[in-house]
Amino acid sequence: MTTYRLAQVTDPHFRSPHLFEGARLHDFVGKRAVGALNVVVNRRRKHKMALLEALAEDLRRERPDHLALTGDLSNVSLEAEWREALRWIEGTERTPADVTVIPGNHDAYVPEVVARGTFQALFGAYQSREVGPPSITGGEVMGQSSPTDGQSMYPFVRLRGPLALVAINSCVPTGDLGAWGRIGGPQLERIEATLGHAELRGKVRVVLIHHPPVQLKGGEERNLKDRAALAAVLQRVGAELVVHGHDHRDESASLSGPGGVAIPVIGAGSASYAGGPEKRARYNVYEFEGTRVTRVTRAHDEASDRFRETARVVIRG
Ligand SMILES: [Fe+2]
Repeated sequence: MTTYRLAQVTDPHFRSPHLFEGARLHDFVGKRAVGALNVVVNRRRKHKMALLEALAEDLRRERPDHLALTGDLSNVSLEAEWREALRWIEGTERTPADVTVIPGNHDAYVPEVVARGTFQALFGAYQSREVGPPSITGGEVMGQSSPTDGQSMYPFVRLRGPLALVAINSCVPTGDLGAWGRIGGPQLERIEATLGHAELRGKVRVVLIHHPPVQLKGGEERNLKDRAALAAVLQRVGAELVVHGHDHRDESASLSGPGGVAIPVIGAGSASYAGGPEKRARYNVYEFEGTRVTRVTRAHDEASDRFRETARVVIRG
């Protein structure tokens, strides 16, 4: 039986070496000023860009069939940070058809940037829509100046091997320094229609979302506000796997699908975290073989400066 391998890289928090040179002063007013200060003080220490280069090398060596990036590509939603992410993706030596990208809360940091559709404009090649209801409704066309929450094109679906990748956007500008997320009623309706879509029948439906769709950490200022509504959708129409980021650590939970069938909900750690072995820079590879799904974690080993397999768990029998 052939094995299909999906890699998930999340929360890399790319920094531009020119973070402050290219950004004008007014870009840092308000929330972004706080975020930028946070970058300077904390993230330079916590997140190392060199680890991402070692990770790219591991991906070139391991050659998984598909790569999904589940958000927080940036720190403060600067185009320069996203351009670093694009440069890195290109360095993994894959075509846009082999990479899928969704945003995280740090990629929806500034309302004006979200309204401009900059993220979608830069990563559009990694977000091609193949199945499901039309993405853009009510005149919310990317790149137009009309205010948008940036969610109208989600979910989108890409069919790859045995998989249907269902990509959700749980990130809206929060306006209160929070890191919470919200899918919103209209997107929830589209998710339900998409997961039940005839073209997905027989496919292994893998939901990609930045925020955990279950409560794993306290503090509602950082959680997905409408996770109960998403759980209800999944209860009605099902999915075979949900993968997320946001918490910067390995996580494992489950939700209930139709007939009480368990849907594994797996969180991957940050791809650039420079701390101790438990949370050190890592990514997941999901191996699909018939109905069986195995989670393989590959983490950075400081001594060898290489990524290596640190866990292998069957998450669906
Ligand atoms: Fe996040």
